[in-house]
Amino acid sequence: MNKLILVTGGTGYIGSHTVVELMNEGFDVIIIDNLSNSDKSVLDGIAEITGRRPYFEQFDICDNERLNNFLKVYKKLDGIIHFAAYKAVGESVGKPLMYYQNNLISLMNLLNGMIEYNVHNIVFSSSCTVYGEPDELPVTEKAPIKIANSPYGNTKQISEEIIKDTISVNPKLKAIALRYFNPIGAHPSAQIGELPLGIPDNLVPFITQTAIGIRNELKVFGDDYNTPDGTAIRDYINVVDLAKAHVVSVKRMLDDNCKSNFEFFNLGTGKGFSVLEVVNAFEKATGEKLKYKIVNRREGDAEAVYADTKFANKELGWKAKIGLEETLLSAWNWEKNIQNKK
Ligand code: UD1
Repeated sequence: MNKLILVTGGTGYIGSHTVVELMNEGFDVIIIDNLSNSDKSVLDGIAEITGRRPYFEQFDICDNERLNNFLKVYKKLDGIIHFAAYKAVGESVGKPLMYYQNNLISLMNLLNGMIEYNVHNIVFSSSCTVYGEPDELPVTEKAPIKIANSPYGNTKQISEEIIKDTISVNPKLKAIALRYFNPIGAHPSAQIGELPLGIPDNLVPFITQTAIGIRNELKVFGDDYNTPDGTAIRDYINVVDLAKAHVVSVKRMLDDNCKSNFEFFNLGTGKGFSVLEVVNAFEKATGEKLKYKIVNRREGDAEAVYADTKFANKELGWKAKIGLEETLLSAWNWEKNIQNKK
């Protein structure tokens, strides 16, 4: 019988790509999503790619009664991948309680449910934001956790603590926290991708929306960093590569290969690119010319962040494979596809 995985936030950006990779590997998937930042049409994209439609329930896992009713029915879950959370750094500064309430209560409800209904495995969607402005590059899993620079970042730190403390007194539970660097790109079929609400905060959706004419020009935040071209450096990881790491993590737990009940891994490529390098790679990959101008630094941005991937590569037997240009081309094909559909 196929193993059954619950994916919370499974119609979201990283969630939907992970659902595809799980289904490609023969897992059965149930998605719970409240559609607060995604669209039901994502299910059509998933079905188009995989030839199967995942089971879907629309509700908010902050609703504990509803979640418990669900878990009562689906007693045989082999694991959970928990994506459902708010993720906009800037918004979290203005609406901290909304972020703490949503991101923490949903996790605590899930953990309580796991204990009550004997679900033993959870993969948690974390972020390199837990390292703040790192002292040393590349960033290893041993880098210290810094004081969070946003309520969003704080919810990721606190969530990891909640998981760790819960597991220490519930030895049947296992968790893997995956700390993402900068996920970008879309599925190569262009059937699923990122669907930002309103004006995108993140670099790549802003680039594709500028190239297609929705935005006037890209603002490059700062060219006075201590980097070769003066613009900030990040580790951009293809979302399909990232999704595959979730499948590997689930299998690691199911096969009992974890070295401890709570593990965490950095998910990146290990290579940093500056904002201008990303702009150039986009132009090269797509043949489009991008209008941009240099403006002041964005408050709270780190100068350079990229992952040391050795630990994840060795332990998970996983490696990011898809290059920057191919990834940017996939983001561009997705942008064109969504504009065609409108
Ligand atoms: C942010 C979050 C991170 C999250 C990631 C993906 C923090 C501090 N950062 O990372 O947790 O995983 O988003 O959702 O918590 N840039 C421009 N112009 C733009 C947009 C961005 O120049 O219009 C630059 C930024 O200054 C930065 C780089 O592009 O140097 C990447 O920015 P962005 O995509 O927003 O990601 P991060 O801020 O690195």
